[in-house]
Amino acid sequence: MERTFVMVKPDGFRRGLVGEIVSRLERKGLTLREARVLTLTRELAEEHYREHRDKKFFGELVDFITSGPVFASVWEGPDSVAVARRVIGSTNPAEAAPGTIRGDFGLTVDSNIVHGSDSPASAEREIGLFFG
Ligand code: PPS
Repeated sequence: MERTFVMVKPDGFRRGLVGEIVSRLERKGLTLREARVLTLTRELAEEHYREHRDKKFFGELVDFITSGPVFASVWEGPDSVAVARRVIGSTNPAEAAPGTIRGDFGLTVDSNIVHGSDSPASAEREIGLFFG
């Protein structure tokens, strides 16, 4: 069984989409293993997004992800990293397919509602950061 990390970002949390997102992942067949609500420190945000530290949008990304509470969660299931990313949809919500979370609820890349790990190795690193 593979684990993945899914985080409802501050925009999704503010808009009351946690239940919808949890429900979609559960209906797909993934199993929720751990969850917590927290507001990220800048230190945790910079560590979580460290592979993007040289991107021009890094500062905005850290400002945004620390701007309010998030719902951090661990999910389990066969091929869960890829499955969760398909349920979430493309990074840019304007291009995400209808029926995906970003396709149905998002409009711009700077507030795209939810994060999903991009590989099993990233998932284990991110789960370690948020759940120890
Ligand atoms: S890249 O350039 O392809 O590596 O970037 P990508 O993997 O698509 O995105 C990395 C994360 O940065 C977010 N992102 C942005 N935030 C703010 N502004 C802009 N322009 C922007 N572009 C990408 C994107 O949502 C990714 O965050 P996560 O949490 O992994 O979805």
